[in-house]
Amino acid sequence: MNVEVKRGAIQDEQTELIVVNLFEQVTEPGGATGAVDKALGGQIRDLIASGDFKGKLNDTALLYARDAIPAKRVLIVGLGKREQFNLDKVRQASAAAARKARALGVTRFSTIVHGAGIGGLDPSQAAQALAEGTLLSQYRFTQHKTEKDDRENGTELEKVSIVVVNEETVAPVRDGARAGEQIAAAVKWARDLVNQPANYATPSIIADEARRMAKANGLKFQALGPADMRSLGMGALMGVAQGSAQEPRFIILEHNPRGEDTPPIVLIGKGLTFDSGGISIKPSDGMEKMKGDMAGGAAVLGAMQAIAALRLPHRVIGLVPATENLPSSTAYKPGDVVKALTGKTIEVISTDAEGRLILADALGYAQRYQPLAAVDLATLTGACFVALGIQAAGLFSNDDPLAARIETAAEAANEKVWRMPIWDEYAKQIKSDVADMKNTGGRGAGAITAAILLSKFADKMPWAHLDIAGTAAIEEEEVPYQPRGATGYGVRLLVQLVRDWK
Ligand code: BES
Ligand code: MN
Ligand code: ZN
Repeated sequence: MNVEVKRGAIQDEQTELIVVNLFEQVTEPGGATGAVDKALGGQIRDLIASGDFKGKLNDTALLYARDAIPAKRVLIVGLGKREQFNLDKVRQASAAAARKARALGVTRFSTIVHGAGIGGLDPSQAAQALAEGTLLSQYRFTQHKTEKDDRENGTELEKVSIVVVNEETVAPVRDGARAGEQIAAAVKWARDLVNQPANYATPSIIADEARRMAKANGLKFQALGPADMRSLGMGALMGVAQGSAQEPRFIILEHNPRGEDTPPIVLIGKGLTFDSGGISIKPSDGMEKMKGDMAGGAAVLGAMQAIAALRLPHRVIGLVPATENLPSSTAYKPGDVVKALTGKTIEVISTDAEGRLILADALGYAQRYQPLAAVDLATLTGACFVALGIQAAGLFSNDDPLAARIETAAEAANEKVWRMPIWDEYAKQIKSDVADMKNTGGRGAGAITAAILLSKFADKMPWAHLDIAGTAAIEEEEVPYQPRGATGYGVRLLVQLVRDWK
């Protein structure tokens, strides 16, 4: 789908459908909606007065213009309560409108920028949210469907025109819409990687995809194989990988616009392309969901794509350790001791606590850059899902300013985080009798003890960890720009974090 921005008045658009909006409790629509209402002889006021349309968030009402204006149909989308209005409501309302347009079978429509006028939002940011919501609402994962799904309705949208009244807002709206397009494309790619079955997304396939993306976006790319990992001393990653016939990959991407060796921001994503649990095997019920155990890696790959496309001025490194975790005669076993890149040893109590092992090596590798900050994302613990559900990722950090930056970015992206402690008192739960630490910490505070283990490999840099076990994929739709399945959680947050970095 193509997003175009032009100067004009929405009521003059010659098209199949125009989209305007309405807040709750408004009786006299103003701005563009007011102008359309006037042209339609007060039909929108009638809808409101009769109580047939209340402006509730994401509700829509359809009117036929009957030659009163050049457009054939008018769609009014509710923006909800004015006092609760923000950028995410723009994302949602835009998505609701785009879905309705699709269901109507139109291939193009024109819309105003929700929130830029009476909503009081920054026009560029509102346009970005509009583009994100519109594009993400159309996401579907259909690669493996050879027959048309009954649940599919409508047609593919081809073009959305954003119509701006003031000449001086055209440029900021255009910039915002372009950024929204690039970010949405990155989120869609991340969703595809997560939704992709493990037999279509092995570590080497993910590395090949990353290589293709890097080439297209001017990023430096490298993928380490088992021999490199062994000689570097990545014993924890190798331990997890040794049970699978699929070779592991350690993907390294670099965005370096100035070509200087300045301290980078390092983004790290857990890339378990399938987590069976290994010898400590998981119950078979629901095990198929573990194809998505590389959602952290997908978020980092998506973020790197958008960071490059947006030409952000910072040096950013993306690291994705990718492997399967399977039981076999060559698999690592409970009781095994592995030695990570930093030289620290870990006793394996559960082979299902594999994410922290591969991240230990990735964090150790990140420290070599002496980064400004390292941020890892991982579907790390069921305990984090128990604590926060699908609404927020657990945030853990050894650096308050970095945690604050992440909280700010999370708010703008509406990818929620909630900070959890990594107090020293928890560390005794992962004390081992035979190695420097063990990879599980008992029943209590499972998300925290996992983060504590990671912190042992990130002690020489500002570091934050996002446990996205709950937020990476959803079974019910929550907002209209996020259908069931992979959410792409983290891409928007990471891009925002790097964009805001001063
Ligand atoms: N990938 C899982 C965590 C997970 C669970 C992600 C559910 C998404 C949904 C992780 O590797 C794992 O198995 N964690 C174990 C740790 C335990 C063995 C200490 C868990 O949470 O049960
Ligand atoms: Mn596991
Ligand atoms: Zn896992």
